[in-house]
Amino acid sequence: MSEDIEPTHSPESEAREVAAQSSGHDTTFPVAAFDDPHLQPAAQHVRRAEGLTGLLLLIGVAGFIVFGAAYWQSWSTQVQGASLGIGLFAFGFGLSSWGKYLLPQGPFVEERHSNASTEEEVDAMAAAVVGRGKMVFRRRGFLGGLLGIGAGIMGVVMLFPLLRSLGPVPKTIFDHTKWKAGSRVVDVTGRPITVSDVVAGGSLTVFPEGHVGDAMSQTMLIRPSYSDIVTAPGRENWAPQGNLAFSKVCTHAGCPVGLYQEQTQQLLCPCHQSLFDVGQGRPALPVFGPAPRPLPQLPLYVDARGYLRAQSDYHDPVGPGFWERS
Ligand code: FES
Repeated sequence: MSEDIEPTHSPESEAREVAAQSSGHDTTFPVAAFDDPHLQPAAQHVRRAEGLTGLLLLIGVAGFIVFGAAYWQSWSTQVQGASLGIGLFAFGFGLSSWGKYLLPQGPFVEERHSNASTEEEVDAMAAAVVGRGKMVFRRRGFLGGLLGIGAGIMGVVMLFPLLRSLGPVPKTIFDHTKWKAGSRVVDVTGRPITVSDVVAGGSLTVFPEGHVGDAMSQTMLIRPSYSDIVTAPGRENWAPQGNLAFSKVCTHAGCPVGLYQEQTQQLLCPCHQSLFDVGQGRPALPVFGPAPRPLPQLPLYVDARGYLRAQSDYHDPVGPGFWERS
């Protein structure tokens, strides 16, 4: 028997006796006594097992604290991973050690007895269970505290990714691009593009002047013919001398729609092969592939010096249709 256990003439046995006397029933259901060897911790050296369990839980708590600090201060991912790993491993081993060495291991066998119980029997059983529970757990306050602290800290640090890693609120950046009324059309080097720079059948990636490289503003300038093109009613003056401008951001998943097939007059997205029909009477409707919407068209005009300029920003949001999802 462990030195820590207080074997006794227990309160529950007294309760059973009282119940038996008062009810006249046989209340000899098998309730193990405190000194029953099956109720003793499995460890031969209980103090040593408690120390080991406490040490493991402490290491776990320290690991969680270091991980929280490392994440918050943006220390290296190696430090974050190592501290979280150590914390989880130590905490897990601490819990396992508690269960394996400090709790009764059984085996527990109970005789069958009559199912119906008198009130006194129920009371006697409750007293026995409460007494045994206290017996098993009453000296583990320190470990229990460590367990609670570790679980609490782990819960808090697990919220950090939610609080810090989702990035800034996008606000309205998906609703507008850098194009605005009067923006001059330039190529990737920043050179202004005139109305005759692109030959019939050709294509060019362009940006608004001053914003070369802006992902949301990248635009495909294509020229199916030398005549004005009307892709849809209301767009009669959007494509002067055959210069058509469409957003280069695919409406499926945002890949650059960078391939213009002159013969079929279609724009192709290389990611998942969406095809967009462009040209006279064809407002970049998707005719193949997963893209759900047409590519927005940028209205153009030619200024007095022959440079292409935007009449306004795109009339529709560019890119994947986040606003269509709820
Ligand atoms: S991103 Fe263009 S088809 Fe998928």
